[in-house]
Amino acid sequence: MKTQVAIIGGGPSGLLLSQLLHTRGIDSVVLERKTKDYVLGRIRAGVLEQGLVRLMEEAGCAERLHAEGFAHDGTLISFGDETFRIDFTEHTGTPVVVYGQTEVTRDLYEAREKAGGKIEFNVEDVVIQGADSDTPHVYYTVGGEARRLDCDFVAGCDGFHGVSRQTIPLDVRREYEKVYPFGWLGVLSETPPVTHELIYANSSRGFALCSMRNESLSRYYIQCSLSDKPEDWTDEAFWQEFKRRIPADQAGKLVTGPTIEKSIAPLRSFVTEPMRWGRLFLCGDAAHIVPPTGAKGLNTAASDVHYLYNGLCDFYENNSVAGIDSYSEKALKRVWKAERFSWWFSSLMHRYPDQSEFDLKMQAAEIEFLRSNKAAQQAMAENYVGLPY
Ligand code: APR
Ligand code: PHB
Repeated sequence: MKTQVAIIGGGPSGLLLSQLLHTRGIDSVVLERKTKDYVLGRIRAGVLEQGLVRLMEEAGCAERLHAEGFAHDGTLISFGDETFRIDFTEHTGTPVVVYGQTEVTRDLYEAREKAGGKIEFNVEDVVIQGADSDTPHVYYTVGGEARRLDCDFVAGCDGFHGVSRQTIPLDVRREYEKVYPFGWLGVLSETPPVTHELIYANSSRGFALCSMRNESLSRYYIQCSLSDKPEDWTDEAFWQEFKRRIPADQAGKLVTGPTIEKSIAPLRSFVTEPMRWGRLFLCGDAAHIVPPTGAKGLNTAASDVHYLYNGLCDFYENNSVAGIDSYSEKALKRVWKAERFSWWFSSLMHRYPDQSEFDLKMQAAEIEFLRSNKAAQQAMAENYVGLPY
């Protein structure tokens, strides 16, 4: 089989790139390890920057997002029982959109299927060959049957545990990593969100986050030990701890109920450089990971896709390599700013096992500076709604 762009990975990065390329008549094939249902079963963050909204519009996939997504003009931040608000729209003129990543992925799958896009599921044994030549190709198997996909370019959109990053030789790759000494225990509950905006809470017992999927589906998180397992937490234990971490006035009106999903995710900052090797381009989690605090995972994958999509269009439409040659440098410049914001916000809002009394005073002073300084709130808002592409 031959295509112009072989895309490894049928998550949001791979699907968004495939659909955008399709709108410009550029052919691609998506090779996905799992089934579509498995991919759509993943529970992920749901805060979209305007840049991603615009890409979904360009891809012709934004109808449901606009109909069902919620514009959020700001967020609440609490330190103990003191709460203040960061007004995104006042500082930046734009809101963020709350719309589940699962729904973004669902909309993209629907668009690819409607357009007759080629997506292969249950793909195994993927090997990328010739990435450093003019004739890259991908070997893989489906149901034990060996297949080969010849292409002009390979987009590695196969996430942190994929094969694409590993294809780049160790003497070419440079990796940067920070593993955080805690995880996030997240639950979904069919209950009305405690308030109409998100609440990021730094309490003496640790971090908590009030989020949502819609007006009757809440998404809540608490910082937890890396040794915790979801089964260690009964619903009752979760609600009791959650109420102790969010501001008392919010806890007083929290509607609890049975959780329909409960999982623990570790927190990591990770970047691999470069994001390109020959005709292989890394996008999204294949190249970088952020702690979820700033909701930058999907949104930084989106800016990668934006740069690569425009670079490939430049190649096919104008016979220019300028866009693909500058891809890695351009993408990494924005990736590192997202990494910085996610690290900063995580450092601000979590309690760390090795924090000294002085460290705690610094954290309290940083939060007080954010609460009381307009420039600090402006900077926070600009990073949260999304820095320019
Ligand atoms: N072959 C084919 N597909 C693979 C392989 C492989 N060897 N390895 C992984 N995959 C698939 C996974 O099954 C997954 O569906 O690649 C896809 C990668 O998707 P994501 O991990 O969602 O990464 P990405 O598309 O970059 O999206 C980034 O999603 O994971 C969240 O927090 C992340 O919000 C961020 C966004
Ligand atoms: C979520 O809704 O899952 C979510 C929202 C904001 C974050 C992280 C996760 O910063």
